[in-house]
Amino acid sequence: MSFPCLMVRRDESGTTRGVETIAVEDLPPGDVLIEVACSSLNYKDALACQGHPGVMQQSPHVPGIDAAGVVVESAAAAIQPGDAVLVTGYDLGTTHWGGFARYVRVPGEWVVPLPEGLTVDEAMSYGTAGFTAAQCVEAIQHSGIEPAAGEIVVTGATGGVGSLSIGILAKLGYQVVAVTGKPEQEKMLCQLGAKRILPREEVQDTSNKPLLRARWAAAVDTVGGNTLATLLRSTEHRGCVAACGLVAGTELHTTVYPFILRGVTLDGIDSAQCPRKERLEIWGRLSGPWKLENLNQIVRSIKLSEVASEVEAMLAGNTFGRILVRPEI
Ligand SMILES: NC(=O)c1ccc[n+]([C@@H]2O[C@H](COP(=O)([O-])OP(=O)(O)OC[C@H]3O[C@@H](n4cnc5c(N)ncnc54)[C@H](OP(=O)(O)O)[C@@H]3O)[C@@H](O)[C@H]2O)c1
Repeated sequence: MSFPCLMVRRDESGTTRGVETIAVEDLPPGDVLIEVACSSLNYKDALACQGHPGVMQQSPHVPGIDAAGVVVESAAAAIQPGDAVLVTGYDLGTTHWGGFARYVRVPGEWVVPLPEGLTVDEAMSYGTAGFTAAQCVEAIQHSGIEPAAGEIVVTGATGGVGSLSIGILAKLGYQVVAVTGKPEQEKMLCQLGAKRILPREEVQDTSNKPLLRARWAAAVDTVGGNTLATLLRSTEHRGCVAACGLVAGTELHTTVYPFILRGVTLDGIDSAQCPRKERLEIWGRLSGPWKLENLNQIVRSIKLSEVASEVEAMLAGNTFGRILVRPEI
């Protein structure tokens, strides 16, 4: 059985990517074979498609950190052929060939039953981005921050994690401020639930002051670098900053003052290795009480042959919302 995939190849002369045909026998080992109906494009996939060595750890490589579809073969006791399932994170699309293909083969422990209340498309509209957004919101809740505490700021607002964080926070009654480089998307961000939007420069302080005016009860940061450092210095007493991203940089320059004078918590978010129990609870929330009714307005679909151009746009910060990837040419 042969089928299409997006293959990335890296050698001394550089990285290339294109649609290729492979066979089921070419797939990495695993006890569950899934026919993929849909994957999604995350920032990490964009890095893999560019051959980023921290993400694409072998060549040739099939990216795709998300996949959802139907089980074809299973040697795992709890998983039967015909089951609708999803996989996000673990090593999918990094050290293990991922979801940008008609089929994936994975270890049984990675497989999550498709949550009741979600279609395959809805599950991938969340994908790793939505899962991570939910983790960020949980971190804020676990810090004891309730909607009455004040404004929650979300950076990278039009991105996958950002837009879904806004939707979930607003659904839970929080007042959300969206920080974006795309002022033209104000209307859409407000429809998602943002109370107001701010330009990126508002959260990029260069003054070197150890503390800034306290403005945020909490923050979801997808950006990193100086933005994260600025958020830490402008978060209110006992506030929480959930940090998950690095689109603007991996370095963090800070003093201890936000922590020891304001009791600010910096909560690191890692979706890939989230333990299974917590993973199932999060999918339960995304498909139940936190389910967003307006997902359609931030989701569109592309084919494998269109991934390369979307990757360029994503790395330049020019995409909006979520992009589903169909395993078609
Ligand atoms: N820790 C984890 O487990 C985890 C899981 C998922 C994602 N992530 C990380 O979270 C980040 C977002 O992922 P994603 O999939 O949501 O990506 P995405 O859809 O590409 O969104 C990123 C957004 O960040 C903003 N942005 C881009 N370049 C920027 C820059 N130089 N400075 C400030 N803002 C910039 C843009 O939004 P605006 O134009 O609206 O500002 C962009 O749409 C990535 O770093 C990703 O690796 C981490």
